[in-house]
Amino acid sequence: MYKILVTRNIPGNYIEKIENMEIEVFSGKGSMREWLLSNIGSADGILITLNEKIDKELIDHGKKLKVISTYSVGYDHIDVEYAKSKGIIVTNTPEVLTDATADLIFGLMIAAARNIVSGNNLIHKNEWKAGWNPTFMLGSEIHGKTLGIVGMGRIGKAIARRASGFDMKIIYYSRHRHDVDADFVSIDELLQKSDFVIIALDLNADTFHFMDYRKISKMKKTAFLINGTRGKIVNEKDLVRALDEKIIGGAALDVFEDEPVDNTNPLLSFNNVVVTPHIGSATYETRDKMAETAVTNLVNVLNGKDPLYKL
Ligand code: DGY
Repeated sequence: MYKILVTRNIPGNYIEKIENMEIEVFSGKGSMREWLLSNIGSADGILITLNEKIDKELIDHGKKLKVISTYSVGYDHIDVEYAKSKGIIVTNTPEVLTDATADLIFGLMIAAARNIVSGNNLIHKNEWKAGWNPTFMLGSEIHGKTLGIVGMGRIGKAIARRASGFDMKIIYYSRHRHDVDADFVSIDELLQKSDFVIIALDLNADTFHFMDYRKISKMKKTAFLINGTRGKIVNEKDLVRALDEKIIGGAALDVFEDEPVDNTNPLLSFNNVVVTPHIGSATYETRDKMAETAVTNLVNVLNGKDPLYKL
């Protein structure tokens, strides 16, 4: 009977419905890494999240391992090439989380531009004293502005669809031209012309610290940088420097170089930075679909069928 390790409880009852396989779920006690190292040797499949780093050491311990199914679209936490070289199939959950992630990214952009978080905080702190005032809490408009999307994969396209409903002018930078209703431009042109720069890239060796000081300083003084994919695509120290020097208008971030973020992170000292705790895909519907996809991927491989998605 095949044995499956599951690192975290996932929504729905998809795990319970798996038939004829032995399932072991991490209890939450002790070190996850140690548990994986001691148990992966007898496992045929593992169902993990983006928190678990699946490196060469773990893969080498997985003597019988046939499939690594990650409950995420991102796979920068897995040494995919090494796993593949050992004949292990690696699967992920794209598509099902595209719209939820694009919704949140779009929401972050609006929140940053229109002072939604500072306005909310002001009222909660009982500091809204002057009432309505012609010059109070003025923000930047969204409609009619130029949106620069860096990366035109599924999430980039979903953001573009939303932006066209907001009457934005859309420009994008990507390795290739795409069949989208937006202008394909160089990264420098995008940075110079955009009122909002949205990062919609995967994290890999080429995109690590893609947004550094040199690029950020090409943005308009009033522009916002929005990142909802992976924190390490933006060099946070460089972003802090740019915010300190007031060379951009602000930022909105759902992802960070180190997660969870603690209150010593200098990004938290800026009123013009809106932050959320990596919740792009965090809706009931999407997390359920991710669970169904991740379990189907895993079971299909062990049953000799094609997974829904394979890296
Ligand atoms: C992913 O799946 O990679 C996202 O970052 C989590 O929502």
